[in-house]
Amino acid sequence: MKKEYGFGILGAGLVSPFHAKSVKASQGGKLIAFCDMSKDRADKLATEYGVKAYYDLADMLKDPAIDVVNVCLPNHLHHQAVLACARAGKHVLTEKPPAMTLQETDEMIAACAQAGVKFGCTVQCRVRKAIQAIKKAVADGRFGTLLQADAVMKWFRSTDYYKSDAWRMSRKSGAGVTVQHAFHYIDLIQYIAGPAARVDARMTNLAHPDIHLEDTLYAFIEFKGGARGMVEASTAMWPGTDIRIEIHGTDGTAIMTGEKMSVWKFREEKPEDAEIRAIGSAAQSTGATGAADFGYLDHAFLIQDMIDSINTGREVAIPVASVRPTLEIVLAMYHSAFRGTPVTLPVKDDEKIWEWKG
Ligand SMILES: NC(=O)c1ccc[n+]([C@@H]2O[C@H](COP(=O)([O-])OP(=O)(O)OC[C@H]3O[C@@H](n4cnc5c(N)ncnc54)[C@H](O)[C@@H]3O)[C@@H](O)[C@H]2O)c1
Repeated sequence: MKKEYGFGILGAGLVSPFHAKSVKASQGGKLIAFCDMSKDRADKLATEYGVKAYYDLADMLKDPAIDVVNVCLPNHLHHQAVLACARAGKHVLTEKPPAMTLQETDEMIAACAQAGVKFGCTVQCRVRKAIQAIKKAVADGRFGTLLQADAVMKWFRSTDYYKSDAWRMSRKSGAGVTVQHAFHYIDLIQYIAGPAARVDARMTNLAHPDIHLEDTLYAFIEFKGGARGMVEASTAMWPGTDIRIEIHGTDGTAIMTGEKMSVWKFREEKPEDAEIRAIGSAAQSTGATGAADFGYLDHAFLIQDMIDSINTGREVAIPVASVRPTLEIVLAMYHSAFRGTPVTLPVKDDEKIWEWKG
């Protein structure tokens, strides 16, 4: 058993400091390097954190001090990077979405399994205490029959945010409110009520006329277990408000607002309910008003989990295989919006869905 595991962060952009702070705060993790094809970006963060800078993944993968690579690249670049990490025998924590197609996702899962390396995904909202309490209440049957699992995300992102990098304006690269921002919250309702059987989605651009992407999604999900879900997600709603996850059953309702449990009501009250109602803080930012406007503690949980899972040999808390059903729902939403009809799962990969018809 090793005492310390070296982390190399691939990509030195917006999300990378959240990973870096998390490694710094961990027990048993050591930040070794940043790698970015932009020398300026890699050098800037490497200097700030007092670690090495690499400008090419192949060079960073040769570094024996690195055990884990955090893949923080634009969405369409995760696939090739993860395959290279697996070939080099490095454990991988990839940012969301894991990839842009199901085939790529399956290839990455297979490559990591074959190499015997851990493969986790930072859909970090799953680890929020409110979500874990809801998940447990579902497992314990407290909701009765699960009726509805809704995600409401009314955020704001400026046109300048979209224009800050070419990939943020390209659907094929993983931009668009559905696959980029709402992914987390679609993941939460999938995690709680999934898997899905059928999806009906409409996408539109309400407030970013210069950007050829959907900034707003309206979707209806029928889950295999019988529950339904509504998703409303937007980056057009200035100034942006906290997300809401709303879970309803015949015997109870729970609502998470931001990271706070704002409603927790069951026909049968339990002694732990008062404590559960106090979960979270209304003051904690969760991304509503800006791209870097959130805390790093959920990322920190997953970094510590990666270290602990390597040490103990157990599975990571959020294996990519558990996020594949979310990607499938998201892809089904694009299929549905592209064709203007409901879509029954499973779906097949299809490049056409990235064409913007709005
Ligand atoms: N979990 C979260 O809450 C969260 C939040 C924001 C972003 N993200 C995800 O993190 C990932 C990165 O997003 P971001 O906003 O930090 O993007 P970004 O554009 O700010 O950073 C990406 C970096 O990758 C670099 N890069 C691109 N191609 C490269 C290559 N081939 N080799 C080396 N470096 C390369 C770019 O130069 C850039 O610095 C995306 O998958 C995004 O969805 C997740």
